[in-house]
Amino acid sequence: MSDLWPKCDTELEEMRDAFFESHPDYRETDSLDRIREREFGRLDASKQIYLDFTGGGLYALSQVEAHKALLSEHVFGNPHSSNPSSKRITLLVEETRKKILKYFNAGEEEYVAVFTPNASGALKMVGEAYPFSGETAYLLTFDNHNSVNGIREFARSKGSEIVYVPITLPDLHPDRRILKEKLDSRPKGGGLFAFPAQSNFSGVQHDLEWIPYARERGWDVILDAAAFVPTNILDLSVWKPDFVPLSFYKMFGYPTGIGCLLARRDALKKLHRPWFAGGTITAASVQGDTYYLAEGAEGFEDGTLNYLSLPAVKIGLDFLESVDVRMIHRRVMELTDWLLVQLVSLKHDNGPPLLRIYGPLSVENRGAALTMNFFDPDGQFFDHRLIERAASRWNISLRTGCFCNPGGREIALELSESELITCFAHAKPRLTMEDFRHCVDGKSSGAVRISLGLASNFTDVYRFLCFARQFVNRTVSDFT
Ligand SMILES: Cc1ncc(COP(=O)(O)O)c(C=O)c1O
Repeated sequence: MSDLWPKCDTELEEMRDAFFESHPDYRETDSLDRIREREFGRLDASKQIYLDFTGGGLYALSQVEAHKALLSEHVFGNPHSSNPSSKRITLLVEETRKKILKYFNAGEEEYVAVFTPNASGALKMVGEAYPFSGETAYLLTFDNHNSVNGIREFARSKGSEIVYVPITLPDLHPDRRILKEKLDSRPKGGGLFAFPAQSNFSGVQHDLEWIPYARERGWDVILDAAAFVPTNILDLSVWKPDFVPLSFYKMFGYPTGIGCLLARRDALKKLHRPWFAGGTITAASVQGDTYYLAEGAEGFEDGTLNYLSLPAVKIGLDFLESVDVRMIHRRVMELTDWLLVQLVSLKHDNGPPLLRIYGPLSVENRGAALTMNFFDPDGQFFDHRLIERAASRWNISLRTGCFCNPGGREIALELSESELITCFAHAKPRLTMEDFRHCVDGKSSGAVRISLGLASNFTDVYRFLCFARQFVNRTVSDFT
């Protein structure tokens, strides 16, 4: 247990009462407190403050119990045979697929759900199979996860143009004029446009209106929904991106190792898989040197699916539905709103603020994730690794670094193009993180991110505030 909490907790009741008063709507989410007790009791029993829901969601106890009961009761064999153990699991796999489409309100005539190991697997599949050529473009915002950035290497290998649209300070949204201009001038061979619904760097939520805007101009659109869907509704009958990658462990913690590509059927037909595998073909011949790819999702699911874990995805979605994501959304945004105001008000006695929070300083256009750096009274930043170590002593799980989103980091932390080019020019063929830190000496190489989710409550955010407060009036040298 953290013996650092009791001091902080002396004001907990008073602060909670004030919070209830300033955020009366929060009380409408009281049912989540009972769910926390029942399903996530391990958090309080082990005195943990979990603030890394964008890193990974937490599973409810009942999900694991339901999965265990299912596995204990049935004999499941490898799917896609007509024997009884195979038929039983095939049925569950297909039920799960239908459930996913229904959950996202995606019509079966319009979308398919392709199972992948994770969101990155879904993105790679699109990247390697997209018909890039010398006449196409891959257009993406600076604010993207590396698994979206990585698609540029497939594009590059086929001679496609690669175009990045900058995001701008302080709100970290794409430059609207540049993005419009780029979307208005789609190359004649077509192109792929990618952006995240919610930034995993800053928590900024990007304008989903870019989806119809781009599609009307002939772009295929990847909407990276991995960080968005755990606490927001994505309705695919309203928004119709061509490809939506996501990871289920981010939504409900369990199982890991399964993600999904939601793809429009017509967009999926444009993809040319670079190979075939067990499970993806209707027929293949050695002597005839031929293969026929299966239609729809099957043609994209290489080898044997993670079939024993797949029914746990349906269990997870059922759980999330029973809790109601709208309720989760309301709760985490109320908490974020309160915490933002509190954190922004932390100041050193000589005037400067303790924290630089990246992205909007209100809950408008952001999700329940806050990314920041800590600064001392002389304006010197605290290394984010120091903050992580200190947080660990409080049993606080948060995340530090750039969260695999280098473009978000570069703009937020004001690392310039020339600075980065110089770093990389000197570092070939390898650059370690340590080299990188040296290279940007004087500037932070990363930040601290806290993110809320379905099990979060007031105590969690209040204790983070207490944790942050201890750095007020302290200098970096106090810690070295
Ligand atoms: C926005 C976003 N996209 C993609 C990913 C990649 O997800 P995974 O590591 O599950 O493949 C992440 C992971 O943090 C993410 O936050």
